[in-house]
Amino acid sequence: MVVTSLDNIEAVRVAALAELESIETLEGLERWRVSHVGRNGDLTKLLRGLGSLDPESRREMGAAGNRVKALFEERLSVKEEVLKRALLYASVDDSIDVTLPGWPIPGGRLHPTTRMVRDLCGAFVSMGFQIMEGPEVEWDRYNFEALNIPRDHPARDMWNTLWVNYADEREGRPMLLRTHTSPMQARIMEKTSPPIRVVVPGKCYRYEATDATHEWHFVQIEGLAVDRGITFSDLKGTLYEFARRTFGEERRVRFRCDYFPFVEPGVDMSVDCFACDGGGCRVCSNTGWIEILGAGMVHPRVLEGVGYDPSIYTGFAFGLGVERIAMLKHGIEDIRSFYSNDVRFLQQT
Ligand code: PHE
Repeated sequence: MVVTSLDNIEAVRVAALAELESIETLEGLERWRVSHVGRNGDLTKLLRGLGSLDPESRREMGAAGNRVKALFEERLSVKEEVLKRALLYASVDDSIDVTLPGWPIPGGRLHPTTRMVRDLCGAFVSMGFQIMEGPEVEWDRYNFEALNIPRDHPARDMWNTLWVNYADEREGRPMLLRTHTSPMQARIMEKTSPPIRVVVPGKCYRYEATDATHEWHFVQIEGLAVDRGITFSDLKGTLYEFARRTFGEERRVRFRCDYFPFVEPGVDMSVDCFACDGGGCRVCSNTGWIEILGAGMVHPRVLEGVGYDPSIYTGFAFGLGVERIAMLKHGIEDIRSFYSNDVRFLQQT
């Protein structure tokens, strides 16, 4: 039975440090660690004996014991460093084996979202669209007002993202992380005159609880075509052609009515499910269809707002979710995989 006393603690300290001096191998060092600071080491045993002491001696010896413990740990790591370095130097000799393989340099690759953005924009570029980008921090005016979403509109609830506490004399209200790429519709129309055919890829933010198909940030591609005489048939034809190029000849598409304040009429477009060919399965929630974008004819109020005469010019717009499409193409089951930085996922592209 070891008696916990200041003398015993001191004896352990002196003996252990002397022993440490003479150690020359990492194995020896490990043995030293086990017998002094390990769970059954002598110092630990002494500290364990504290429980049977009266409170005052317990405090005093506990403090002394912990000081020695900290000292042991510090000396241990210093010694380890010294030994490792010595071993490293000892292993270097004059003969270099030139036949040994070199260190592989891991190659980087494009993020799956980036690849998808490039593929999708490519499909539109080949149909005569131009690519533009816009700011991720956007004025209230472009994100909402110019898109026919006034201050009290219920659509704003879901779109209350992060507001930036900054106001400008001209713009007035503060800025927010944009909730969609649609603000670029107004920005582009203000700066140019028709004909316009552009796609705008970019990051968007939502007030959203995440799950397998929802992220609070994601990438959209906005599309806008404005000219004299653009009709709903142009919208359908363009998006149909896009779906065919992206998903293959055999995919069917479906348009249904949907509501967005900045288009009239508004639609959403679905493609028949890649997993079951439209028969109904888990991936498409048994509907046979998967929704991939919102679209519609640009609302006359949006055109008026940027100074275009809606009796002369018409146009269509669409917004598609890039990760959703990548999920469809590659059978990815959880949208959160895109942004959790797991290289095993990222390396697959
Ligand atoms: N901006 C809409 C959204 O984020 C999508 C959309 C774009 C709908 C353009 C119609 C026209 O949900």
